[in-house]
Amino acid sequence: MVMTTPATRPVNPRFSSGPCAKPPTWTLDALADAPLGRSHRSAVGKDKLKAAIEGTREILGIPDDYRIGIVPASDTGAFEMAMWSMLGERPVQMVAWESFGSGWVSDVVKQLKIEATAHVADYGQIVDMAALNFDQDVCFTWNGTTSGVRVPSGDVIPANRAGLTLCDATSAAFAQDLPWDKLDVVTFSWQKVMGGEAAHGMLILSPRAVERLESYTPAWPLPKIFRLTKGGKLIEDIFTGATINTPSMLCVEDYLFALDWARAVGGLKGLRARADANAQAIWNFCESRDWIANLADDPATRSNTSVCLKFTDDRISDGAAFAKAVAKRLEAEGVALDIGAYRDAPAGLRIWCGATVETSDIQALLPWLDWAFEAEISTIGA
Ligand SMILES: Cc1ncc(COP(=O)(O)O)c(C=O)c1O
Repeated sequence: MVMTTPATRPVNPRFSSGPCAKPPTWTLDALADAPLGRSHRSAVGKDKLKAAIEGTREILGIPDDYRIGIVPASDTGAFEMAMWSMLGERPVQMVAWESFGSGWVSDVVKQLKIEATAHVADYGQIVDMAALNFDQDVCFTWNGTTSGVRVPSGDVIPANRAGLTLCDATSAAFAQDLPWDKLDVVTFSWQKVMGGEAAHGMLILSPRAVERLESYTPAWPLPKIFRLTKGGKLIEDIFTGATINTPSMLCVEDYLFALDWARAVGGLKGLRARADANAQAIWNFCESRDWIANLADDPATRSNTSVCLKFTDDRISDGAAFAKAVAKRLEAEGVALDIGAYRDAPAGLRIWCGATVETSDIQALLPWLDWAFEAEISTIGA
């Protein structure tokens, strides 16, 4: 079958899963008010950092008694900081169903070397969260960015748990509901659903997480950029905007712009609806094709941000080469950038559907998927 190229192209072909597309109204001018060349400890600097913290609380609906801090090294920094500062007080359940969660498992098992049970599921599947022992600490990723599988609900996490829940929510925050009362540590980076810049992490702590920090000292040394307590007390200043080390005020300004944009689209509800509409458009597309399917086995676990797809046509013998060739074709046409599956994930495509992506761009992309698939399959056996 000869396919003609579709008539419409996405206005913005950026479908990367991080750094993700900027908000549609973003321009460089949006950063004009950044206090560049000023100290982050000046009044204007502190005000901006505080606004970033309070804006996060407002949009995400984070309870007033939870602390929110801006910390070094993006989501990785925030999650590592939490694990290294809090784990070891009791045994831990390490939960993973894709690459990033697996990274946290091996960190705890091979680096911290504390008593840990690993609960691991394959790409496309999820660990049975109801079977975990929440009287131990539990570390997990809410949305597995590299498999497109997310926790369907936090209902199975008991309110009266004795352990802490540590949740890497970097590709969930601002697109999915996070049950704050079930989560003691939540981390994310600005570079995901908000389309912000990387390098700064957000660390959110429940009162129980603070209690752990103030009552337990790990057996291992902590570098300065991981230290959240001094003399057995939480360093409260970190959670009012006095960061551990110097942040980029340009990135802070960029995040403040994204928060304003989030307000303009209706806050968390509006952001979630945008991601849902994007993902739904792709799910519908897959449903009406017999050569492509969601990597997530159970529809209830399908991500609305990192939508991961696999090719299911029997004629394909080298799945990795096929998927790469499709992604390359789309990139060469300038209609989709960075949509190849993650390097450790099964072969396929990953199309970011977070809130900053316009549904019209997803819709414009879909006929190009038909086109690229047909063009590539026609080379098999040719
Ligand atoms: C689930 C998850 N955790 C951690 C990371 C690492 O994030 P960062 O590079 O912002 O530290 C990513 C990045 O894609 C991710 O998807």
